[in-house]
Amino acid sequence: KTGCITYDESYGNTGSCQSRITFIDGEKGILRYRGIPIEELAEGSTFVQAAYLIIFGKLPTETERLRFSGLLTKYQMIHEDMKFHFEGFPSSAHPMAILSAMINAAGCFLPELNTEYDAERFEIQAAHLLSQVRTLAAYAFRKSRGLPSIYPKKKYMFTENFLHMMFSEPDEDYELDPAVVDALDLIFLLHADHEQNCSTATVRMVASSKANLFASASAGVCALWGPLHGGANQAVIEMLKEIRADKDDGTLFLDKVKHKNHGAKLMGFGHRVYKNYDPRARIIKRKCDELLSKMGISDPLLDIAKKLEETALNDPYFIERRLYPNVDFYSGIIMRAIGIPTEMFTVIFAIGRMPGWIANYREVAEAGDSRIYRPRQIYQGPSLNHYVPLFER
Ligand code: SDX
Repeated sequence: KTGCITYDESYGNTGSCQSRITFIDGEKGILRYRGIPIEELAEGSTFVQAAYLIIFGKLPTETERLRFSGLLTKYQMIHEDMKFHFEGFPSSAHPMAILSAMINAAGCFLPELNTEYDAERFEIQAAHLLSQVRTLAAYAFRKSRGLPSIYPKKKYMFTENFLHMMFSEPDEDYELDPAVVDALDLIFLLHADHEQNCSTATVRMVASSKANLFASASAGVCALWGPLHGGANQAVIEMLKEIRADKDDGTLFLDKVKHKNHGAKLMGFGHRVYKNYDPRARIIKRKCDELLSKMGISDPLLDIAKKLEETALNDPYFIERRLYPNVDFYSGIIMRAIGIPTEMFTVIFAIGRMPGWIANYREVAEAGDSRIYRPRQIYQGPSLNHYVPLFER
């Protein structure tokens, strides 16, 4: 049955889930959205078209594309009263904390969310969320820098508008470099869905209780935040900066990792499913070289990353554990080149992942026989005990 977790002995207590959205073959390094290989989508699709594919199960016709883009434009503004919520955050607040809170706050301006799920209203709710997550993210960034909020503009496409809201000034629009727009749009596309990862499974878990779309997505943001998951792109850059500051060519760091020195990990490497090269990492690495060359940027962190990859891929420690670069290993280099601050990297991941969360929410909400997720446990606590009064303890 779609949507419910089945208890599967071979999976131990993690269970397994059925879905029609994304296919991964970890052994072969294959990723497909609704059956279409990620390489073909990266080559030919925009993020919004891939989002449509993931959410509605098919690539949009031109009419469908125009309609959906029109909805994203129509709902790009957040309610003006939302600004009061932003005022309440300290400038030091992490943007993922703000994003999670503000997604639920934005949902409060859609009263229909408090009623039973209505499939007829799904497209409008999805368009609200997918469009406004950009606005919320950009406002959070500008607020953290003490900068005035920049309103979205109807003339801009999805990713252009996000860059505009992030980097324009009240009296001067940010100059959109097509190479930068294309690179960020690709980053969003490559993050758009990824089967039952930690944050998507969280969205499905919350959706299974019949909570609304915004509540489920807000929970997904919290799960994504962790450095072992979406927070890894920020952790990779911090790791590369540390290696550079130590005037290390990576050798010392990899020794720390191999000796599990204070739990050191090669961030951006390894994956629960991929036991081969993450196909997204391969695409991002190429885009990295292309963008930095077009922008005339020579980033020492990219050189360190490439040296780490080359060394690790030939080191028995990593080979034995089948550890390869994942989507997070090179994505931060591109975001750095664009001028996105590291604390916003995981927010970029969340914007990209939104279509996958929306599609998975819908799959659970519309599965007629969907039951609440209730993973079982293997109890390892004490057997029968009895209460001991305080004065006897
Ligand atoms: C994402 O699930 C998804 O699909 C996620 C994602 C998505 O799109 O949603 O793909 C996005 O989260 C990518 C992963 C980003 N995280 C990182 O890059 C953080 C670094 N990676 C590791 O923390 C780790 O590889 C995980 C969390 C990604 C996977 O962990 P697993 O599957 O639980 O693997 P494990 O911890 O059981 O590791 C097996 C062995 C262990 O060594 P031994 O105990 O056998 O000696 O491999 C070692 C681990 O110590 N290992 C690493 C390592 N990852 C695993 N050693 C050093 N560096 C690493 N990165």
